[in-house]
Amino acid sequence: MTEIWKRLGDYRDAQGDLRISDLFASNAKRAEDCVTSADGMVFDWSKTTIDAGAIELLLELAAPVALRRDAMFSGERINETEDRAVLHTALRNLEGSVIVEGQDVMPMVRETHRRMSDFARAVRDGGFVGQGGRITDVVNIGIGGSDLGPAMATRALSPWHDGPRVHFVSNVDGADIADTLKGLDPATTLIIVASKTFTTIETMTNAETARNWMTGAVTAPAMQFAALSSASGKTAEWGIDPERVFGFEDWVGGRYSMWGPIGLSLMIAIGPEAFDRFLAGALAMDRHFRSAPDAENLPVMLALVGIWHNQICGYGTRAVLPYDNRLARLPAYLQQLEMESNGKSVAMDGSDLEIVSGPVIWGEPGTNGQHAFYQLIHQGTQIIPCEFMLAARGHEPELAHHHLLLAANCLAQSEALMRGRSLDEARALMRAKGLEGAELERQARHRVFPGNRPSTTLLFPELSPFTLGQIVALYEHRVFVEGVILGINSFDQWGVELGKELALKVAPLLEGKSAPGHDPSTEHLAKLVLQMRS
Ligand code: F6P
Repeated sequence: MTEIWKRLGDYRDAQGDLRISDLFASNAKRAEDCVTSADGMVFDWSKTTIDAGAIELLLELAAPVALRRDAMFSGERINETEDRAVLHTALRNLEGSVIVEGQDVMPMVRETHRRMSDFARAVRDGGFVGQGGRITDVVNIGIGGSDLGPAMATRALSPWHDGPRVHFVSNVDGADIADTLKGLDPATTLIIVASKTFTTIETMTNAETARNWMTGAVTAPAMQFAALSSASGKTAEWGIDPERVFGFEDWVGGRYSMWGPIGLSLMIAIGPEAFDRFLAGALAMDRHFRSAPDAENLPVMLALVGIWHNQICGYGTRAVLPYDNRLARLPAYLQQLEMESNGKSVAMDGSDLEIVSGPVIWGEPGTNGQHAFYQLIHQGTQIIPCEFMLAARGHEPELAHHHLLLAANCLAQSEALMRGRSLDEARALMRAKGLEGAELERQARHRVFPGNRPSTTLLFPELSPFTLGQIVALYEHRVFVEGVILGINSFDQWGVELGKELALKVAPLLEGKSAPGHDPSTEHLAKLVLQMRS
């Protein structure tokens, strides 16, 4: 373990049971000092135990980031285990030029963006129709990075959704596609098959089912299919007209792909102009990330706070708590982004990681979560750093009183987590209720909140295409910074392979065939499934 990690660990140990409230008491300007901003977005990390000494050490950790960041933006093959460049940022910098292996890739990116925009407009205004007329419903079939991004963003931007209805099917569970297609008219439905590889079993199975659903109802189902993929050979084999195939290169990773063709369903929903504002928000964050000094750099600071909590303090999970119902799918999106990117135990050079590689990410929108799992966050025995998110304005001016309550709850939660309630305060409460003696003591103890629980707050003016672009790019870069600091490759995902391979080998067992090589438990479970089915 390098010396800086050791110094950080020692520093944390020396803090002992330092209370966050003491940091505010000793620095009257802490609330203003501990915020980092970018283009109207504000990240407040004051309610953490990070003090001046800690931040100094954490910033030392960030030293290698700038070089690696420049290598990423300039198209170097920083995804070393797959020997690929990492250039999802090129998809949102349409004016730029990026040279990969001596060739400017941007004319191709711009051309695809133009074709997507033309197609999205045609679907929206009736220039492209189904056999039964204007497209009323679009079904995006994809999984992981080919689903979570557009599904999350379409929900987040529902006030801008003025195109046809858009649905998302991801799970190989037939219930997903059955429930989605129920009630749709095949003659006015557009199916988008979103798969970078065009081999993913869930997606191809669902695509086949959708094609069967259309066959019989329309004479030429293939005419109502589009594909988003890097595998043009496979989309052609599948019978999708190249005119409706939108391709991208291997330097766009699945979970980083919503900025290009994988965002087509979102573009159809909100229109190309709003989609471009989404790209503009991400581009603004890219520019900030590339130019702001580390101490004022939002992605760098978000990453360092995360590292402080997970790797230094040892808190094993992180709750993402958007106080915005339209961001309901953001925690799921961030789970893939962060956990698939940085959930590794081997460093880039093949050696074992000596540091834990990242927390479990989970969450739900506030205020719903308050009535479900916040109990554990406030009074449980483990500490869970919370990332609150809040738009200053709601989207419905006529419902401003709702938004006021929403915002008040968000701020109150972080205050309560930090402040807590002492035993004396709890006793006073019980005394006021008329209790005394042993019963007062017993009841009071249940009402104690330890407090000193860390949280951060990300504030932005309102949830819009631009701010959503900022948020997603912010988290992408956060993952990148953490990956660089930990010395891992954030852009491969070998960990999903084994389960996929074994699923194909387990399938025969469930058909009652013999399939050697499985462990006794798996064989037994398969037998039970067969018995229960019969
Ligand atoms: O889960 C593994 C993964 O490869 C993700 O990284 C990716 O987003 C998803 O599967 C879907 O892959 P594809 O777009 O090739 O169907």
